[in-house]
Amino acid sequence: MKAGDTVVLRIGDKSYTLPLVVGTEGEVGIDISSLRALSGVITVDEGYGNTGSCQSAITFINGEKGILRYRGYPIEELAERATFVETAYLLIFGELPLPTHLGEFRRLLSENEFIHEDMRHHFEGFPPNAHPMAILSAMINALGAYQPVLLQPEEDEHFIDAAARIMSKVRTVAAASYKKSLGQPMIYPRYDLQYVPNFLHMMFSKPNRPYEPTQEVADALRRVLILHADHEQNCSASTVRMVGSSQANLYASVASGVCALWGPLHGGANQATVNMLQQIHDSDMNVDDFIRQVKDKSAKIRLMGFGHRVYKNYDPRAKILKKACDDLLSKLGIHDPLLDIAKRMEEVALADSYFVERRLYPNVDFYSGIILRAIGIPMNMFPVLFAIGRMPGWIAHWRESHLNPSARIHRPRQIYVGHTERHYIPVNERS
Ligand code: SDX
Repeated sequence: MKAGDTVVLRIGDKSYTLPLVVGTEGEVGIDISSLRALSGVITVDEGYGNTGSCQSAITFINGEKGILRYRGYPIEELAERATFVETAYLLIFGELPLPTHLGEFRRLLSENEFIHEDMRHHFEGFPPNAHPMAILSAMINALGAYQPVLLQPEEDEHFIDAAARIMSKVRTVAAASYKKSLGQPMIYPRYDLQYVPNFLHMMFSKPNRPYEPTQEVADALRRVLILHADHEQNCSASTVRMVGSSQANLYASVASGVCALWGPLHGGANQATVNMLQQIHDSDMNVDDFIRQVKDKSAKIRLMGFGHRVYKNYDPRAKILKKACDDLLSKLGIHDPLLDIAKRMEEVALADSYFVERRLYPNVDFYSGIILRAIGIPMNMFPVLFAIGRMPGWIAHWRESHLNPSARIHRPRQIYVGHTERHYIPVNERS
């Protein structure tokens, strides 16, 4: 099928002709934007599994074949050869940066790595055990308050400044929330360090003892962040587009993305996966017994880190992360029993008809937590690392929808299934 083709929808004794939208990778969608005006009828699709919210040029996924590309570049090549900063530039601006553009973007990130000293007071307002995702979403909006001119970054120069500020400061805020949880002082960023090593420095240095990230650790985290950088219309990116469609500013929109990502079915799954593996390890449970529990619906137990709305094949990110686990742990001389359990779990599940029939494979969250553990990231920070990685994707989606001249505020319809009309009864007459 090609652009310009149509489909005919019959409702009752009437027929309606609807245009097809065909993407550059041959994906076909029915444009139903005129359906209600023509027929008075709408479509319903709980969870949007069959509904496209937009046309996008940022990321392509083929879930059946396990393909993931950012602006046409295979994730395997970017994970192997790109830096996180140039991957972020690619997602946001659409092309791999020329040396001058990369230098300027890096300069903006370095110029914006501090947070305003007054922001320290916000941290004092959180209890010591506050979840870092609660702190992160609040702090992103607080960052916007210090740069009111950037709250409406309609002009490109304001947008680039706002994008660089958010991408840069999200590290500083995340690391500061970790230091607060330890009762340690916040560590200032270092101008001489690049994006990933600088974050590790802020996380693990102390005033009396600097932390020098090794090449292996910095490279492993680079891969993790690149693999999390975007994933087309996932729950959090769609949330950013939804919030941004009301003309809410970039800070408010990506802060809403943090909130959506926090859920255990989405970005919280990396934390839930390691929790699951840890419980299996501590209880000395047999993996086969755990899989039996997962298959027993009454147990209401999910195999966290498995399954995906789009990938009905092995998530290409999981493949890269599984190898990165082996590489990093062997370089660090670490044996993590949770990795053994995870590999055994994958082996048992992929040989079991329950998972094969439902096309449930490891997703990005199945191995990512093992790498973060090996680096020394605490478990409740795993979704925060996912947010730092996903920040360029959210920014790219916000910008793409803002640059779209036909973009409209997102306002889905519904089918009402509540009471039909009824009338007020005074309280003393109710039974
Ligand atoms: C991410 O959208 C994205 O791109 C997200 C993401 C990104 O980069 O942004 O890729 C990141 O969020 C990855 C997913 C992380 N979440 C988890 O690992 C949590 C565990 N997985 C699931 O809860 C589930 O697989 C979802 C939420 C990921 C997908 O859910 P769907 O597509 O709504 O599938 P479903 O819940 O309708 O399940 C279909 C069937 C059901 O069984 P039946 O009713 O057909 O008998 O598969 C079963 C489910 O019970 N099933 C699982 C399962 N996932 C689905 N059974 C056991 N364990 C699981 N993990």
